[in-house]
Amino acid sequence: MASLDSILKPVIDDLKAKDIYWKTYKLESNSGAHGVVNGKKVLMFGTNNYLGLSNHPEMVEAAIEATKKYGAGSGAVRPIAGTMDLHIKLEETIARFKKSEAAVYFQTGFAANAGGIPQLLDKETLVLSDELNHGSIIDGVRLSKAEKGIYKHCEVQDLAAKLEEAQKSGKHKKIWVITDGVFSMDGDIAPLGKIQEVCSKYGAYIWVDDAHGDGVLGSHGRGIVDHFNLHGKIEAEMGTFSKAFGVVGGLVSCSSVMKEYMHNKARTYLLSGSAPPATVAACTKALEILEKDDSLVKKLWENTEYFKEKLSKMGLDTGNSQTPIVPIMTGDSTKAKQLSAGLYEEGVFAVPIVFPMVAKDKARVRTQIRADFSKEDLDFALEAIEKVGKNIGLVK
Ligand SMILES: Cc1ncc(COP(=O)(O)O)c(C=O)c1O
Repeated sequence: MASLDSILKPVIDDLKAKDIYWKTYKLESNSGAHGVVNGKKVLMFGTNNYLGLSNHPEMVEAAIEATKKYGAGSGAVRPIAGTMDLHIKLEETIARFKKSEAAVYFQTGFAANAGGIPQLLDKETLVLSDELNHGSIIDGVRLSKAEKGIYKHCEVQDLAAKLEEAQKSGKHKKIWVITDGVFSMDGDIAPLGKIQEVCSKYGAYIWVDDAHGDGVLGSHGRGIVDHFNLHGKIEAEMGTFSKAFGVVGGLVSCSSVMKEYMHNKARTYLLSGSAPPATVAACTKALEILEKDDSLVKKLWENTEYFKEKLSKMGLDTGNSQTPIVPIMTGDSTKAKQLSAGLYEEGVFAVPIVFPMVAKDKARVRTQIRADFSKEDLDFALEAIEKVGKNIGLVK
């Protein structure tokens, strides 16, 4: 039999030949606005730490205190002995923050999608998924026995046509519609209000993945359901603590019955060790900070508007962005790589996003704006973008 490495190596070589091999960047600092990547000081335009919360002193303190009191690990899966009072408090805090009846905390957002979704979709279900949904949704759907359909990105008419067709066929007992709230490559927002209207007409349930909307959209960063004022009308608002909330962990805001169901059915919840005390305490603190004070969320949006306006004055295309995810569209992938490399030399970290992550002619450098950038930071980056953009013929 061939050695395993001799089977794996050509696959890796093929990724390299196609230029889709991930070279990992080494972060040698915290995830603050000013970081050190591969030995160089840079402004961090490439993280999801939109509010800079990962370094918030109160969260660090909460993590330390929880570790001192409860130890480094939880010792078990949630249903056995891994539910500490800390986990219960976090789930109550999520529900209060999200204004939902109840909430479930998972170890990661990936675990929430991959573990939660399949338990809701049985073989009598039709699931309709936006074509640009996140990979963790795709995997969750794949793990289910449901009939699967895809609708065009954010196109409510296409979704309505598919729902109509499903209703006529009379084949399904349940229909679920699943969408990202904010799409991570373009920074556009799903038209959740319209999606909810059409779903309510056809009796379909909604699972929305608010990973990039948590801490960003809605009052105090409550997320997409709050943004569209759809409280009580969306069956599951999934989210993550790994982005604007600055820690790690998945969440699903839902009804008390759905919570009880997830606590008994979701396999990633049942069969994987629960999150450690430091993580859980820091997550709770993140929500408490945002509940008290929305100044970070406001600053994030001020920074985003300032940055976008300046890019547009330079004649740059930011695609469909409606959020702090601001792609600088370059079209071809070579230009995206040149722009990213040039920016790094100037001290600005922002990664190129190229095929197959996006269509071949839709390459871009993705910048992600944060609340802890000063105006000087933004101006520094804008100057660098102009300089490198001129060198590669992107800026006139
Ligand atoms: C839209 C979306 N959903 C889910 C996830 C997974 O979240 P987590 O990092 O908490 O596993 C991500 C993270 O990349 C994401 O962007």
